[in-house]
Amino acid sequence: MLILIDDADLTKIEELYAKYPYDGVTTNPTILSKTGNPDPMDQLKKIRKVIPEDAMLHAQVLSVETDDMVREAKHMVSVLGENTYVKIPAVGNGLKAISILAKEGINVTATAIYGVMPAFMAAKAGAKFLAPYVNRLDNLGYDGVQIAKDIHTIVKAAGYEAEVLGASFKNSQQVLEMGKFGIGSVTVNPDTLSTLAFNGVAENAVKDFICDFEKCCGQGKTMLDFE
Ligand code: E4P
Repeated sequence: MLILIDDADLTKIEELYAKYPYDGVTTNPTILSKTGNPDPMDQLKKIRKVIPEDAMLHAQVLSVETDDMVREAKHMVSVLGENTYVKIPAVGNGLKAISILAKEGINVTATAIYGVMPAFMAAKAGAKFLAPYVNRLDNLGYDGVQIAKDIHTIVKAAGYEAEVLGASFKNSQQVLEMGKFGIGSVTVNPDTLSTLAFNGVAENAVKDFICDFEKCCGQGKTMLDFE
């Protein structure tokens, strides 16, 4: 399962990458606005520089008319280069824009997915990723995890190339449910990523191992000190 970082803060991205080789970064206009950088393209270029060349960078268009979305998407790819995934909302004119861009070989992530049908249509239109908003769906009284699973099932049954990119998570359990169901990718905010992969109990267990070893074998010793 691909795991991406859902944030645009350079320090957080670098800290997370220092601990683990993630598969890329996803942003949206709100996430970019939180960095305080009034030049979003500058922020995206900076993110591009701190992540590996082959990592994906997902960024969203703001236009609402089909032609404008297409123009904006092409501009973003021309500035940000390879491995850019343009996020197009699967609402309004988005589906038409997705089909035009996909035919021209541009990587598209269909975003703002609040139901199975828009996701299915986006997959049919040629989107590479489909981003259902799991926690936002839960907050609306729906079962976000189940909707993500249903999208995965229907898209695989139809034989489309698209993968679900589970998004909008507020806890590790929601993320793990994606994995259990074989969903191909998730994008997770730094706080949830930290609780998912790093926990104090495990770190304390390792500290105890070192402490016991040092009591017997000497301060600061590792296996390197023994033949
Ligand atoms: C990803 O495509 C979404 O922009 C993101 O995961 C939304 O997360 P939020 O519901 O925490 O804003």
